[in-house]
Amino acid sequence: MGALFSLRDAQPGDMEHLDYFASLEGMDALPGCERIRVAVNEQGEPVGFCRLDADENGVAYVNPIVVFDTWRGYGVGRALIEDAWSREGELRLVARGQSVGFYEKLGFKPLSWDEVDLKAASEDCDNCPVREECGPLPMRLA
Ligand SMILES: CC(C)(COP(=O)(O)OP(=O)(O)OC[C@H]1O[C@@H](n2cnc3c(N)ncnc32)[C@H](O)[C@@H]1OP(=O)(O)O)[C@@H](O)C(=O)NCCC(=O)NCCS
Repeated sequence: MGALFSLRDAQPGDMEHLDYFASLEGMDALPGCERIRVAVNEQGEPVGFCRLDADENGVAYVNPIVVFDTWRGYGVGRALIEDAWSREGELRLVARGQSVGFYEKLGFKPLSWDEVDLKAASEDCDNCPVREECGPLPMRLA
């Protein structure tokens, strides 16, 4: 049996799927397919993706990562993060509270709020009406 999924760069034809995955998580549409890696199933259909952004010093930010819900728990998220980390050497992000355990499993450690660029992380937690329930946490893998 082959691998359940593989990773490749995103292509323009993927964006409808990826925007749909993002919208299901209440996230904005993606600005384009640059710096996006996609996990695809054996039919070549996207099942998850990880997009990277960067701050003014070139530090990479995960912004965002989404695995389609029926594909969660199969190592897709881990593979996408390990792939990004192996290219970048350092990753930062603001984790939603419900995803903190995922990032901890992969070795991310908490950061203080002044160590993250909220623009690169695309987070406006200060003005978010569900901040308290969400429990966002800045994190880093280095
Ligand atoms: C977070 C997310 C990307 C994880 O993707 P996934 O493919 O299910 O993760 P994996 O299967 O690779 O899990 C890797 C490890 O993390 C653990 N894990 C996954 N999600 C977890 C969670 N929410 N809390 C605690 N641990 C978690 C898994 O059990 C696994 O542990 P193991 O290696 O000991 O078996 C996925 O749940 C998702 O898309 N969520 C919605 C979007 C989102 O919240 N994105 C992050 C925004 S900050």
